Amino acid sequence: MAATLLPTLSPPVSRAAAAFLLLRGAPAKPFSCLRPPPTLRRFLASASSSSPATLSPALRPLSTVASSSTAARAVPARRDLLMLGIETSCDDTAAAVVRGDGEILSQVVSSQADLLARYGGVAPKMAEEAHALVIDQVVQKALDDAKLSGSDLSAVAVTVGPGLSLCLRVGVHKARQVAKSFGLPIVGVHHMEAHALVSRLVNKDLDFPFLALLISGGHNLLVLAHSLGQYVQLGTTIDDAIGEAYDKTARWLGLDMRKGGGPALEELALDGDPDAVKFRVPMRQHKDCNFSYAGLKTQVRLAIESMNLSTDDIPILSASEEDRQSRANIAASFQRVAVLHLEERCQRAVEWALKIEPSIKYFVVSGGVASNKYVRSRLNQVADYNGLQLVSPPPSLCTDNGVMIAWTGIEHFVVGRFEDPPAADEPDDMQYELRPRWPLGEEYSEGRSVARSLKTARVHPSLTSMIQGSLQK
Ligand code: KG4
Ligand code: ZN
Repeated sequence: MAATLLPTLSPPVSRAAAAFLLLRGAPAKPFSCLRPPPTLRRFLASASSSSPATLSPALRPLSTVASSSTAARAVPARRDLLMLGIETSCDDTAAAVVRGDGEILSQVVSSQADLLARYGGVAPKMAEEAHALVIDQVVQKALDDAKLSGSDLSAVAVTVGPGLSLCLRVGVHKARQVAKSFGLPIVGVHHMEAHALVSRLVNKDLDFPFLALLISGGHNLLVLAHSLGQYVQLGTTIDDAIGEAYDKTARWLGLDMRKGGGPALEELALDGDPDAVKFRVPMRQHKDCNFSYAGLKTQVRLAIESMNLSTDDIPILSASEEDRQSRANIAASFQRVAVLHLEERCQRAVEWALKIEPSIKYFVVSGGVASNKYVRSRLNQVADYNGLQLVSPPPSLCTDNGVMIAWTGIEHFVVGRFEDPPAADEPDDMQYELRPRWPLGEEYSEGRSVARSLKTARVHPSLTSMIQGSLQK
């Protein structure tokens, strides 16, 4: 039997519907496979108003749920919501508890940096085992640090994609376990959406629509965030993401990968001359907002070979002063061009975004690579030049963390997007449907209206209709 863990990108529900009663203890219903999202959700009557007129018919409260025999409990005001967030999509096991008003009550991250350093990248089976080894402790510590028990929580949010299936499964399994034990609703979260939305926790003035650059180990995304769950993808990478290029370059330069390839390279680049090695900026002939980092990686590899640096055998700590300087020059030159590529694509994306949504005021930069100071300062200039305000979360919220999952869970939960608590008799070895490849938003290319490009794009159908709906407003 397979259960569908809901993606949260689903039809919007008015904020007016956010005040609702959550009924607990309704008769347990078995999950059916691949039911469409709205029918899996339990939308309940507004706490104060008896007319949920703002809800579309498909999203009306299910009357069967509101039986007088069920134990009903009013969901507290938003600020009193308590969301546990669990993240295991890649190489960090993370959990956090966040309150509805954005207060972070706890944040725990267990990193697999040592494994990464030893095996030269994420080995899915090994990463799965590492997650499984620590997940219970990480979640328990998040609750302990927040001075809460599971029964105090309002719901559990968990990453369901994109990511490594084996790894996602560990987090989802744990989330369902907690949710089942305490009868809590579950919110399935999109990892990249969480990177974007955590900026709204950081800056409470940040309203939709906004432009976001999301840069991590596996993704390079430029999205126009219209509203919650409604994203138009202006650009993506055609091969590697910038984080992957940082990690490979760091490894080839013999850096200490235990602190992470990106941070190690950023540090070394401070001592280098960014003009020492002439790398070509990728994709200048392509007048779009896509990215490419595979070619830059090859250029770095060739530069290292041509300089006769034996970086594979000699870690930087044992290198001669001259050798170290050459490596620093490569690091600085790589970083300059890697980030110049970001700047150029972001400049075009700002122009596109302002054409679609002239009211945009904010430019969000998030994801692991956004913790890099050079990246932040260069993209701040792009924002300034265009009269936008840059919002970039602090480094601990840019790299993978449980806070962003909990916060995104809150954002969706308060508009009624969540899944029922697992049935009491749900077997422990239940196979969940995950979303390892899950595009965030619809593709867009200049010269085609968003609505037209949506019609022809191959995407999640519910997402298409959702975005079209928003454009008709
Ligand atoms: O978002 P994230 O924590 O995990 C993924 O979703 O992939 O991003 C991880 C990526 C890695 O490639 C890591 O090297 C990079 O972010 N990163 C950095 C820095 N800190 C983390 N890259 C450049 N400079 C940094 N300071
Ligand atoms: Zn990430």
